[in-house]
Amino acid sequence: MSLLCRCAIGVAAAALLAAAWQPALADPAAGPRYADGAATFQANCVVCHGHGGLGQPSLAPPLTGYPARYIASADGRRQLAMTVLDGMYGDVVVDRKHYNFKMPDFSRLSDDTLAAVLNYVVFDLAPLPPAAAPMSAAEIAAERASPASGEAVRQHRAALLPSLGL
Ligand code: HEC
Repeated sequence: MSLLCRCAIGVAAAALLAAAWQPALADPAAGPRYADGAATFQANCVVCHGHGGLGQPSLAPPLTGYPARYIASADGRRQLAMTVLDGMYGDVVVDRKHYNFKMPDFSRLSDDTLAAVLNYVVFDLAPLPPAAAPMSAAEIAAERASPASGEAVRQHRAALLPSLGL
């Protein structure tokens, strides 16, 4: 078999695998509740946070656990909004694993788009979606009015976690 031919088979196999992959949705038969958020996630977030938001060791944390806890409190909701608007920088711990890289800011995306991507993370990717109101565009807009540094976002997170028992 020629090298070119083997390579073509490899590419076809990779494409098949990619097509077969599905996120761990709460109800896979129904598809994502936040389809717009899913599209934004695939375009902007999956590269670091991995398929289904499962995270990538030493690059970016999983998003399947903590964000669903954050959304239950007012301060946690602010934390979600500021993370996507301002990014986050420096050492963070998720499930006792350290991540120390830079989450870019996504302030170029609209309030609606950012609310939808957070709702996809919280209500579609978490194994047990919380009984909380979805994030609204108005909450994103309110947070957008007070930009923060990535380091300040990390400090806000550090103050938030103990109040949630994390
Ligand atoms: C370039 C890689 C990268 C991209 C792209 C990225 N993130 Fe992140 N994200 C990170 C890193 C790294 C952290 C942890 C930040 C740190 O180490 O201070 C993080 C943290 C987070 C957190 C906080 C998790 C927690 O436990 O507090 C959320 C929520 C999040 N990202 C959502 C998103 C969403 C939504 C997108 C797409 C719009 C996205 N990220 C795109 C790298 C990335």
